[in-house]
Amino acid sequence: MGFIKYIKDEMRIIKERDPAIRNSFEVFLYPSFKAILRYRIANKLYRKKHYFFARWLSQRTVRKTGIEIHPGATIGKGLFIDHGNGVVIGETTIIGDNVTLYQGVTLGGTGKEKGKRHPTIGNNVMISAGAKVLGSFTIGENSKIGAGSVVLSEVPANSTVVGVPGRIVKRDNVKIPREDMDQIHLPDPYLADVTSLKKENEYLKNEIKKVCSRFEEIKSTCDKLDELDRLLAELKRQEKNQVS
Ligand SMILES: CC(C)(COP(=O)(O)OP(=O)(O)OC[C@H]1O[C@@H](n2cnc3c(N)ncnc32)[C@H](O)[C@@H]1OP(=O)(O)O)[C@@H](O)C(=O)NCCC(=O)NCCS
Repeated sequence: MGFIKYIKDEMRIIKERDPAIRNSFEVFLYPSFKAILRYRIANKLYRKKHYFFARWLSQRTVRKTGIEIHPGATIGKGLFIDHGNGVVIGETTIIGDNVTLYQGVTLGGTGKEKGKRHPTIGNNVMISAGAKVLGSFTIGENSKIGAGSVVLSEVPANSTVVGVPGRIVKRDNVKIPREDMDQIHLPDPYLADVTSLKKENEYLKNEIKKVCSRFEEIKSTCDKLDELDRLLAELKRQEKNQVS
């Protein structure tokens, strides 16, 4: 009974999130369905400390589906992995309910942490194709991670993060102006360089304006001096004429 309910739930989840599905039975063809079902079994084996068999099942699933879920990961209800190829979910990852992952997503470690090394993903989070979430921090619920992003630090709930390194571009569905863009505490050398170049460019433009206006002043003084020379020459010529 439990297994039939599980399959019905999977059918509902996949039909809700993949517009490409035409028939409920197509669910059995989805790598997501196969990988998550096998993960649930592998996770039970892992929790009973049958580590070898848990890893064996998990590695067999990688060969069949291209999705690698470590049996030690903790995954809530309603996970959907669209397409799936190249997805990697690390051992200490925690995934909430109704999360969607696309192909090429890595929920991994940075190699610098010990213990909990992988991220915690909140409920209803969507992580787009090719995105990498690396380290032991939380992606807040209802957040979206853009395709190809590399997220290295905590993300608050209801945010959209894009880019490398990932930065918040939207929070609570409101776009964040670029100047106030939250760097989520990550250094962004490109943005810093562009900002400093913009400032320098503005300063140089003002200096050129000053030089041009000084040049105009000098030119008008020179014109006046020429006019005076011309008048003096005229006066001298008239004096000469009177004397003669
Ligand atoms: C991030 C995403 C989910 C959109 O989220 P959203 O909250 O609706 O955000 P918006 O579309 O309003 O985009 C906000 C800003 O981020 C930019 N942006 C969106 N996705 C981006 C990405 N992957 N990389 C870089 N910038 C991105 C937008 O151009 C926009 O910039 P602007 O403010 O200068 O106009 C979506 O763009 C995305 O990446 N989807 C990929 C889904 C996927 O993996 N599909 C594969 C199917 S096979």
